[in-house]
Amino acid sequence: MKNSFVMKGNICQTVTPTELDLHGNAYAVCIDGISKGVFDVLPEEYAALPLYDYGDALIFPGMVDLHVHAPQYAFRGMCMDLELMDWLNQYTFPEEEKYEDLNYAEKAYGMFVDALKKGATTRACIFATRHRPATELLMKLMEESGLISFVGKVNMDREASEALTEESAEISADTTVEWINAVKDNFQNTRPILTPRFIPCCTDQLMEKLRQIQMACGIPVQSHLSESKGEIDFVKFLHPDDPFYGDVYNDYDLFGKNDDIDTDVRTVMAHCVWSTEEEVSLMRKNGVFVAHCPASNMNLTSGIAPIRKYLDLGLNIGLGSDIAGGHSDSIFRAITDAIQVSKMYFRMVDESVRPLIFPEAFYLATMGGGAFFGKVGCFEKGYEFDAVVLDDRVLPHPQSLNLAQRMERAVYLGLDEKNITAKYAAGKRIQI
Ligand code: GUN
Ligand code: FE
Repeated sequence: MKNSFVMKGNICQTVTPTELDLHGNAYAVCIDGISKGVFDVLPEEYAALPLYDYGDALIFPGMVDLHVHAPQYAFRGMCMDLELMDWLNQYTFPEEEKYEDLNYAEKAYGMFVDALKKGATTRACIFATRHRPATELLMKLMEESGLISFVGKVNMDREASEALTEESAEISADTTVEWINAVKDNFQNTRPILTPRFIPCCTDQLMEKLRQIQMACGIPVQSHLSESKGEIDFVKFLHPDDPFYGDVYNDYDLFGKNDDIDTDVRTVMAHCVWSTEEEVSLMRKNGVFVAHCPASNMNLTSGIAPIRKYLDLGLNIGLGSDIAGGHSDSIFRAITDAIQVSKMYFRMVDESVRPLIFPEAFYLATMGGGAFFGKVGCFEKGYEFDAVVLDDRVLPHPQSLNLAQRMERAVYLGLDEKNITAKYAAGKRIQI
């Protein structure tokens, strides 16, 4: 049996948002890439499997990055002085134009994939650029990495620099169909996702064509929604008759499931900082995922997404790095950012909205985003076996610490950037 083994160590996970689920010195069993559960005593039936004993190390589920731009990795940590629309025009579009050149793409995407491999992320929803050859190159590199991802060739036929704007809705759509046909059966772990950049960059003709493509091939959708005030005003100007931003995606059946026409389009929308009540209730009804990207929302001065409210309403939510709006590819960092911005929301905006607690944010980073990929995000029986083994001996302490303290400290102190011992995606070892 391929990808079958037992892992021993301190298993730390959240199977509900409200509490940690900790198993010191326990066994996690993986058969054919699927978890059989966590055991304090190894059941006899698994005794013959290879045993990987990680001693006193921490074993976490893999992190899920529900929103990241691969071509923006090259300028992460720079260009932090503007808000979204100016930041796109002045910094992001000129950088993305470079992916016309496959030599540049190979160098830059190589660095991105390498970084993802070395961190705690096992799964990601990735934006490429509008360029088909560079997108296929990125998919090839992702596949070779062993990580599991959705990758999108971006669609954008207006309101960007000339070099980055696709020539017409027809060309954008035709290229997308060619791209989907070229990649759909080529990879095991790297799947295409339909990626209209956001409403300001997509004409009605293009959106209509994407609707037809989605219906024909059934692939999921990712985009941006209600991120910044300037963007929302612009969408209102472009679509004065739509009651809210998300309704434009919904008009083209690119917004989750729609019972009226019996479609179920798996959809993730990044940000949702300023979503109105109507928008939130449609997202809830349609099962649209929110990719919460707190670092990006701070850097681009977008605002604070009210994640506590979304959690209470039962929305699907995961965390995203949103490189390069966010400056770090670490989802550990996104966990702490999510908690911190929720505390600012509580103190500065509305004291009736409780801040997030650590188990909730860890849950969003694993089970929350993992649900977009299926049964992903913990070691419960039947879940795909994504694991990160972390050695926290590099973080000295004079006092004795229990497992809950070690888990929280590992995340807050960025152990993913310091000491990852091993990493597995769907039971397959990733070469870090
Ligand atoms: N909205 C449209 N494009 C982008 C992007 O590249 N980054 C962010 N943060 N928001 C966007
Ligand atoms: Fe983004």
